[in-house]
Amino acid sequence: MIDKILYLVLMLIVYFCNVINNLILSKKDIILAIESSCDDTAAAILTGRKVLSNCIANQNLIHRAYGGVVPELASRAHQSKIIPVVSQALSKAKIDKKELTAIAYTQGPGLLGSLLVGNAFAKSLAIALDIPLIPINHMIGHLLVHFIKDKNIKSPKFPFLGVTLSGGHTQLVLVKKYFEMELIGASIDDAIGEAFDKCGKKLGLSYPAGPKIDKLAKTGNSSRFPFPICNLNGYNVSYSGIKTAFINFIHNQKDPNFISENLSDLCASLQFTLTQIILKKIEKVVKDYRINQIVIGGGVAANSEIRDQLESYAKSNGNKIFLPPLYYTTDNAAMIGIAGYYKLKQKNYGTLSESAQARLKL
Ligand code: KG4
Ligand code: ZN
Repeated sequence: MIDKILYLVLMLIVYFCNVINNLILSKKDIILAIESSCDDTAAAILTGRKVLSNCIANQNLIHRAYGGVVPELASRAHQSKIIPVVSQALSKAKIDKKELTAIAYTQGPGLLGSLLVGNAFAKSLAIALDIPLIPINHMIGHLLVHFIKDKNIKSPKFPFLGVTLSGGHTQLVLVKKYFEMELIGASIDDAIGEAFDKCGKKLGLSYPAGPKIDKLAKTGNSSRFPFPICNLNGYNVSYSGIKTAFINFIHNQKDPNFISENLSDLCASLQFTLTQIILKKIEKVVKDYRINQIVIGGGVAANSEIRDQLESYAKSNGNKIFLPPLYYTTDNAAMIGIAGYYKLKQKNYGTLSESAQARLKL
């Protein structure tokens, strides 16, 4: 009899140990995230919503001489940087690769050669470690970055208006759930970041010109040069008109010192116009869709004029604005990791036969 009771107690202990162990393990999902869509090779380690490390190898110096990203050079740089960046992310997080429970990577949109490097690396490691592989849409990552557990981040509630402002995209998205998004409007030609970079190039500013224009504009007069504000019907935007108008305006100046003598005013006037174009569309969507929360993402979300204008608009209109901290505006792998975390929770994995997609839709 005593033997039987002891056996039963032992079995109960084993059972509870397993339950506790499973609970700890399920809490301890550790994701490696990889981002290689354009010119930043990035890797991050997350446990749950918390970022343990977020490493980026920037390629600006490689592309600077060409005034923009050269796709072939970007792919080669990703090839040489991906292993050092992943190793750095693992060691900063104090995680051994055998502890990883999933790998999230950017499937698209972006430069195909660059995406293929991240895709092939993520697949190989997922096979070697026998763990799930999770493909992520880069633009969704820019919006879900607002769900990272971070002292500088306040997460929005669904539904909200997501606005992605980057070098390759300008999108207005109705976000209903983590992966349920409806594209309301987008740029029909150049992206807002592209307009910053190409106009900046005409001013002699090196790539990426966006942050330099932002800095120079701080001491400039934004009403000195009034440029046309294109206002398309509906929710789409266009940035190629202002880009061409600006480039022609500079081109037609006779004075060889015109740029150097007016640089700050040119930057401030350009930045003001680029901001007004997107601000007017955001105002229209908010009004028509009766949306209360506006969530901004992407590299251009770092722009101080855009941040200020959006904050004062939201304040006067009674809306809530969510701006990412500056360190999560530019391309990074933490945003891919947080999207990966929500897909992992849904057991929404990818397959080893999926390839990178340069034109991946939302
Ligand atoms: O999201 P992102 O890092 O890469 C893409 O997915 O494209 O965005 C890069 C873009 C570049 O065009 C860069 O000039 C712009 O973001 N950018 C800025 C600022 N910081 C980065 N544009 C204006 N003002 C800034 N402060
Ligand atoms: Zn981006």
